[in-house]
Amino acid sequence: MSDPADRTALNDIQAGFTTTAYQFLRKLPPWSNTANRELLHQHLLPFSTYSPWLGDPDFIDTFNRILKHTLVDKYRCFELWSLGKQLEAVEGDVLEVGVWRGGTGVILARSTAGSGKTVYLADTFTGVVKAGEEDTRYTGGEHADTSVPLVEALLQDFGLDNAVLLQGIFPEDTAHLIAGRLSMVHCDVDVYESAKGVVEWALPRLSPGGVIVFDDYGFSGCEGVTRLVNEYQGRPGLLFL
Ligand SMILES: C[S@@+](CC[C@H](N)C(=O)[O-])C[C@H]1O[C@@H](n2cnc3c(N)ncnc32)[C@H](O)[C@@H]1O
Repeated sequence: MSDPADRTALNDIQAGFTTTAYQFLRKLPPWSNTANRELLHQHLLPFSTYSPWLGDPDFIDTFNRILKHTLVDKYRCFELWSLGKQLEAVEGDVLEVGVWRGGTGVILARSTAGSGKTVYLADTFTGVVKAGEEDTRYTGGEHADTSVPLVEALLQDFGLDNAVLLQGIFPEDTAHLIAGRLSMVHCDVDVYESAKGVVEWALPRLSPGGVIVFDDYGFSGCEGVTRLVNEYQGRPGLLFL
């Protein structure tokens, strides 16, 4: 546990000062934006400060080593880590579309290592594609500051041999390289059309009990993905969390 913030939080808890985080959070001003009736945003401050990752040294070690390779925060990385372990019993491999520098790919590969599952990591590695009028911030080409060798080197640093990189636009260029069912999909593509392409391809291949995680849901600037996920709500056979 080398992250000083983690060590401080752990010390606080051990010393019985669990109110520290609570008091800090209460000082931040909450806000809401109801101007757009379709896309409502509010900043709610959580009362819960339970942080199970503090008791998971493997996760903390992994997260600290991928910090420069991910745009995804600790909450969401821990969710992926936890799902990777929980879904071991569900049949099928793991797919991530939207790898960038490989941070969340490592989280998925390390949390499922030894399960026999392959982790497919699909990206253009030349930036976001298929931005369109559903999207509010992305115009295409963002996150091009990566490469296949860079992600391969990160996987090697962790000694991971259960991940397969797929370079190209998904699903058109690379989906044919995936055979069999899926237990989990991490969709982190930022824009509506790309996310739709992932879901339409993955849904018929998802095992019962399988999960699709949308990284971008709810983020200001990723309204296209929020819109897409909301369109799927209420579909028979799908549980929306
Ligand atoms: C926000 S980044 C992914 C971040 C990454 N998961 C992390 O750990 O920070 C989004 C990525 O999606 C990729 N992307 C978007 N649409 C795509 C598509 N249809 N096929 C392949 N890659 C896509 C982009 O190239 C970009 O690298």
